[in-house]
Amino acid sequence: MTKYKIKVCQGKACSGNMSRYTLERAQNESESSPEDFVVETCPCQDNCDFGPTVVIEDIKANTEKKYSHMTAVEMGKFFRTHHKDS
Ligand code: FES
Repeated sequence: MTKYKIKVCQGKACSGNMSRYTLERAQNESESSPEDFVVETCPCQDNCDFGPTVVIEDIKANTEKKYSHMTAVEMGKFFRTHHKDS
């Protein structure tokens, strides 16, 4: 069952901040446990000055959190810390 839905902003400002690399990293990382993660794109999240912006929905907790400055490296850190969640 999906644990996290990861939405990577592909709006103009975030795209200019290389959010495509964040998206690629999320897609690559999620391949190792596709049952846990869903990765998709989303439009502008009104957080343009702090992009790349990623919104992560914790399905089990029914919460959603907006992350700023979510570079590919930061995206990788998220997966490192959430892969072994139960
Ligand atoms: S373009 Fe990503 S928050 Fe606006």
